[in-house]
Amino acid sequence: MKIKIRLLGILCLLFSFNLYLGAQQITSPNGNLILNVNSENGSVLYELSYKGKNVILPSKLGVEAHGFSMSGDFSIKGVSNKSVDETWKPVWGQYSVIRNNYNEIAVELIQSGSNAKEMIVRFRLFNDGLGFRYEFPEQKNLNYFTLLNEITEFRLSGDHVAFCIPGDYDTNEFSYTTAKISEMSKGMDIAAKSKGYESKASGYTVQTPLMLKSADGIYINIHEAALVNYAGMLLNVDDKNFILSAHLTPDKLGKKGYLQSPCISPWRTVVVSDDARDILASQTILNLNEPCAYEETSWIKPVKYIGVWWEMFIGGGATWAYSDFYKARPGVTDYSELIPNGKHAANTQNVKKYIDFASKHGFDAVLVEGWNEGWEDWASYLKDHHFSFTQPYPDFKVKELQKYAASKGVKIMMHHETSSNATDYERQMDRAFKFMNDNGYTSVKTGYVGFIIPRSEYHSSQWMNNHYIYVAKRAADFKIMVNSHEAVRPTGLCRTYPNWLAQESARGTEFESMGGNACDHTTILPFTRLMGGPMDYTPGIFQTDLSYYKGDKPNQKVHTTIVKQLALYVTMPSPLQMAADLPQNYERFLDAFQFIKDVAVDWDNSWYLEAEPGDYITVARKAKGKEEWYVGGITDENPREANIDCSFLPKGKNFTATIYEDGKDAHWDTNPQSYGIRKISVNCNSRLKISLAASGGVAISIR
Ligand code: NOJ
Ligand code: CA
Repeated sequence: MKIKIRLLGILCLLFSFNLYLGAQQITSPNGNLILNVNSENGSVLYELSYKGKNVILPSKLGVEAHGFSMSGDFSIKGVSNKSVDETWKPVWGQYSVIRNNYNEIAVELIQSGSNAKEMIVRFRLFNDGLGFRYEFPEQKNLNYFTLLNEITEFRLSGDHVAFCIPGDYDTNEFSYTTAKISEMSKGMDIAAKSKGYESKASGYTVQTPLMLKSADGIYINIHEAALVNYAGMLLNVDDKNFILSAHLTPDKLGKKGYLQSPCISPWRTVVVSDDARDILASQTILNLNEPCAYEETSWIKPVKYIGVWWEMFIGGGATWAYSDFYKARPGVTDYSELIPNGKHAANTQNVKKYIDFASKHGFDAVLVEGWNEGWEDWASYLKDHHFSFTQPYPDFKVKELQKYAASKGVKIMMHHETSSNATDYERQMDRAFKFMNDNGYTSVKTGYVGFIIPRSEYHSSQWMNNHYIYVAKRAADFKIMVNSHEAVRPTGLCRTYPNWLAQESARGTEFESMGGNACDHTTILPFTRLMGGPMDYTPGIFQTDLSYYKGDKPNQKVHTTIVKQLALYVTMPSPLQMAADLPQNYERFLDAFQFIKDVAVDWDNSWYLEAEPGDYITVARKAKGKEEWYVGGITDENPREANIDCSFLPKGKNFTATIYEDGKDAHWDTNPQSYGIRKISVNCNSRLKISLAASGGVAISIR
């Protein structure tokens, strides 16, 4: 790894109390972004501009704790600057080498009086955005403190268009609203009514990552990085004055965080560009996270998998539960005495069929949901011990399946649905992970559906954020990779804990069987949810019309063409990718399935060719360590022509491109399974124009 750190110089200016803090300014390394830090009557304000245009107008900083405030009465104690330009290599990701290049200013603040407190605000200005955080150093007058409020503001310069979901302490699984800030509340209220266990934040809030576009074409993304020992941040919205401000997730006692100095907040991030492609390419959030915490990472491997999963969603009656005896209790009930319901999908014979299919088509793993005791009443949320993570149902033969999978070169992926009982999960965790080690499992999908236990907590409150990290770290002790569903949305922690391969934390494909995802949904997700890290979106549905199954979901349809499903493997980068449909559907479209088999899940490089939030994304990527490239393009409900500039290919060589494209008559609603496949020769001078159907796509493999 080539590391070049340039320390431009450290400047420490000592002032006495209550002296005027002179305006401080730093620019991004390329000069496009300018940050000003100022003080006004003892409070500290920051201001950000991009190419001379206002991004953040002077905005307040600080926190309030029980008994005292750290937002005013400040004077400067010192200022230090530094510059960093280095590169690092992630274990997996969109780029095999990432440049970390920023100018930093740390402003040391001190209050006056006998109980005065000190705080540092550290700002890092990258070419594509800003990160800043609060640091509470070791000091005489600050030990334990309980956060009441963070008053960080993001004052916007106008009535920008927002791509947003409603603020919620428990879930991010909402449909997006695209509207001007002044108009977005109406659409979001409707969107919020779609889940059972949400906890709408008090007041008018939205979730981060929040994507904004100004009338003069500036793209602004607001989120946070390195959410550790702190509450997840929502944004309060003042839609008259276009002011956003931090809204920390409280616990159910109303506390927003229990801290002890020395300590730090997560980074608040503002990614900015006049080109939407730069937002998707930004590595600022990863750069603001700590380096990998593990010395040895060779056991962390990207995973392409199938699963005993979609059959529980299509309305055909397959269940996670073994029986219909809803009063069954792990550790009490003798499950072998129960009458099987005859619809339990995770039975040995069925799992073997999936293993055969995975082995035949080169998948790494088969996820099996519903293998363990506890599913009979899994949505009751009222039990202190809900699931056993070591006790299989009678028809799931652990040892037999371990042997069978091993003989076929396939892993079984563990599933730990906790029904949000994090306490019981922590009690069982070591035994659960040992069980995995003993039985050949190397990855686990965790789940947090429902109301959190401990009952004082929400999905995004401080205690739970520490729980998710504890799971990732403890899993690493057992060399286990984690895919968490319904956890707090990611903030780039996969850099530090790369065995935390992916998360759900947004509305995934499962909702295509429960109301649907809008045609523009996956053109927004990379600008919002994916800013913090990979998503287990579970694409690959070929049988998009669920009336096909003649079950109880006759009106459900996936809102894409088949080809758009293929393109998602490239437009939604993740080291963990599922081929979510049933094996028998892939057998019907083996030529299209070839793309899913071929596509890489880990990359040397990525080139965003076209992008506009809510409309379209076209991206090309080079497979890690291979002379192979994959292109994915998607559109919203509007057909369009993708322009694919192949200059990402090495010069002087011809390659064969296999193009998977929507048929001329394709349409997500009326004709989703119309597609064509053709091969052409391409080189770095090729410029391809490909027609995408309404909610269609294009997928290309180049070798
Ligand atoms: C919700 C998850 O997102 C889904 O993938 C899973 O199948 C169910 N919970 C059951 O755990
Ligand atoms: Ca979910």
